Amino acid sequence: MSRLSVRIDKASDFIGKDEIRLFESEVELHLQQIHEKTGKGNDFLGWVDLPSATERDLVNRILADAERLREVSDAVVVVGIGGSYLGTRAVTGALSGTLEGPATGEGRRGRPRLHFAGHHLDAGYLNELLRHLDGCDYSLVVISKSGTTTEPAIAFRLLKQHLEHKYGSREAGKRIIAVTDASRGALKKLADAEGYPTYVIPDDVGGRYSVLTPVGLLPIAIAGHDMVSLLEGARDMEDLLKKSKGVYDNPAALYAVARNILYRKGKTTEILASYEPSLFYLAEWWKQLFGESEGKEQKGIFPASVGFTTDLHSLGQYIQEGLRNLFETVIRVETGKESLLIPFDPDDSDGLNFLAGKDLREVNHMALAGTQMAHLDGGVPNLEIVLPDISARSLGELMYFFEMSCALSGYILGVNPFDQPGVEAYKRNMFALLGKPGFGEQGKTLRERIKGFGV
Ligand code: PA5
Repeated sequence: MSRLSVRIDKASDFIGKDEIRLFESEVELHLQQIHEKTGKGNDFLGWVDLPSATERDLVNRILADAERLREVSDAVVVVGIGGSYLGTRAVTGALSGTLEGPATGEGRRGRPRLHFAGHHLDAGYLNELLRHLDGCDYSLVVISKSGTTTEPAIAFRLLKQHLEHKYGSREAGKRIIAVTDASRGALKKLADAEGYPTYVIPDDVGGRYSVLTPVGLLPIAIAGHDMVSLLEGARDMEDLLKKSKGVYDNPAALYAVARNILYRKGKTTEILASYEPSLFYLAEWWKQLFGESEGKEQKGIFPASVGFTTDLHSLGQYIQEGLRNLFETVIRVETGKESLLIPFDPDDSDGLNFLAGKDLREVNHMALAGTQMAHLDGGVPNLEIVLPDISARSLGELMYFFEMSCALSGYILGVNPFDQPGVEAYKRNMFALLGKPGFGEQGKTLRERIKGFGV
């Protein structure tokens, strides 16, 4: 049974109950379009049934491959960008210790540390990673649905050569797993030619909705996290959202409607706030999901994120008193992973004895409540997503909830939430500037134009 809930009472000055009811029939229609796969972008609705449709055989194969790589690796490098990497980062970041950052594991055989590559083009980062990999046993998981994305393709070329140099191409081939399209793309061709074990990303699941396919499940399992519980949590949410048709019984519908009402009242930026640093990459994943799904046709809510209380000492000022085009969505975790009592100090020179014996978790909760009140007083409506804890199961619920909310919200906004035509523009320019074959004239024009750019 799903345990996540959505609260909108801290936005009641901005969202009337009658306004919500006006969306009842529209939401019912969109839910039907999503479940019956008849809405905009309906060839990309495969994610809807993933939690219940994922077969035990696939799960077992992933667990077996994960174990095989874990046994021979101190480190595993996950190569991918956008939807091919952020879901893994969100889950492993949330479930691992925060001190070592988003990398997980201890960095030894059986407990490998995850590293990421192919998510940008920085030579310094890749050089540092390659130097680190000189000194340890490692494996690669390369993920690209299209199999042609430049950033992961470059990183994979470098890492593959490094791996082959270290182990010879036969052994290297056993240390590489590819996750890609069933039949298209350069990665698929390469994987077939080299005989890498391969997982297929279903045709009808787009990158940012693919965390519950091998794109996310395999690296999450390699990191030693419970991807079976992740799927179970998502299945609980799938069940709930399938059977709940009314806006108030369907948390995804309530969130999607609330954010669209706020948007229509000029609240064009949504800030996802959490008080748990381990949710940093969850917010990055959420930004990609909503930004790429809704930001098109000159419309869409701009998704931003903050980590409190850290950012109360930076962006907090803007949220309190800056331009009033904001609303906040707070992820409230009811039971934090750990507790820590604040000690008594006989000198009390810091004046903190009023907190002695209190759990730091309670202080964090009071910071949350105090901040919400202050932001409400400052004219920032607050939506709230209440999560019982940060476990694999709760994350499964949360991620599926966000996917469904995003699809519904995109439909309410009137866009296709499953395409991303805008991401092509930079690629065309970059290829033309770099002289990729086939970009002749455009390349010349852009190289002229670049002279004025001071590059
Ligand atoms: O959501 C999307 O479709 C994108 O963000 C992709 O995930 C991203 O561009 C990476 O694409 P690919 O997996 O084809 O390399």
